Amino acid sequence: MQSLVSSAGAGRIPGFSLLPLPCIHFGTGFLQVVGDIFKQCVSNILLVTGQRSLDRSGVLPRLVAKLESGGTTIFRMHVDREPSPEVINRAVAQYRSSNIAAVLSVGGGSVLDAGKAVSAMLPQQLPVERFIEGQEGFLQHDGRKVPFIAVPTTSGTGSEVTNNAVISNVGPEGFKRSLRHKAFVPDFAVIDPVLMTSVPRDLSAASGMDACTQLLEAYVSPFASPYTDALALSGLEHFSRSFIPVCTDRAGESSARSDIAYSALMSGIALANAGLGIVHGFASSVGGFFDIPHGTLCATLLLEATRENIRQLNALDRHHPALVKYGRAGEILSGKIAGDTHSGCALLLETLGLWQELLGFPALREFGIRESDIGRITAITRSKSNAVLLGEDNMRCILEARL
Ligand SMILES: [Fe+2]
Repeated sequence: MQSLVSSAGAGRIPGFSLLPLPCIHFGTGFLQVVGDIFKQCVSNILLVTGQRSLDRSGVLPRLVAKLESGGTTIFRMHVDREPSPEVINRAVAQYRSSNIAAVLSVGGGSVLDAGKAVSAMLPQQLPVERFIEGQEGFLQHDGRKVPFIAVPTTSGTGSEVTNNAVISNVGPEGFKRSLRHKAFVPDFAVIDPVLMTSVPRDLSAASGMDACTQLLEAYVSPFASPYTDALALSGLEHFSRSFIPVCTDRAGESSARSDIAYSALMSGIALANAGLGIVHGFASSVGGFFDIPHGTLCATLLLEATRENIRQLNALDRHHPALVKYGRAGEILSGKIAGDTHSGCALLLETLGLWQELLGFPALREFGIRESDIGRITAITRSKSNAVLLGEDNMRCILEARL
């Protein structure tokens, strides 16, 4: 039986544009690397952090001591959830007159997004709401910002390399949208898997599924290129061998954490350049109405969204390039050779189903979502980068299957 490796992605190369990348350091030694970044900087730094465990474990005190020993003054901002406009505006008002020379975020996706947004808003006079995509009175940001350094402590969003910060205001009239500009790509991304060793297993599962969703959605996106395909495939390969060990087994943790951190990094570059699909469309609509962690929502919806995409692609064209890619992803994630596209897609759904069962991703109902909410969700869900155009009925199928 022949693998689908050579047929996925075959065809004429489409035109594409690439966003800038940060200076990226991947590997151990973040303390030294961050210290070196700030070696010449003896002014004020805003340090954005989340979980207090980084303080308790001594990681942050060591970082602060290292920076302060070079003469830097550290201001601190704590973030404990996905940032709202209010949180960003308050921080900007508090630190605007502090001559902040750089913003350094050390934490999960929300911490990175908060730092990225504050760095983008410190030079601006208007509130952040004016620059959020899709908001009334939207103004294009001019790209002026304070330098921003991202140090992720979870493996998921890929925010350390993306050009957007997700800002949310959760509630009946809520939203979850992006502050976006190519200048918002962090100046430095320092990814040290050692920082991720204390992440609890349920958070590893949720954030890992976010990375997996991003890899898959970018891979099958109509805006994918051979460049983003290469990154997505490399990310999926590393993800495949280490996701379940990271979520269930502490043996071999260091190399497994490294694999997943690398997958998340690849997913961030791929998504920034190829876009995302329907799961992230729901992340914006469902995430604006209901308080659901982003990774958990991705984990909960990925199987059924993939099933619906494959169904609609098959109805459109049984040889659709995105189907071939889904088949290839099925081979990689299952570790089996399929031989043909249809079998590869079946392997993909089977593998995602096994993970859903093994890791127990919660149903939407557990977050208060009811049948009666589906209409208002599908009415505003958009995803122009999905593998195939989905109507409201298709979206309803996905949500109903996970209620
Ligand atoms: Fe995501």
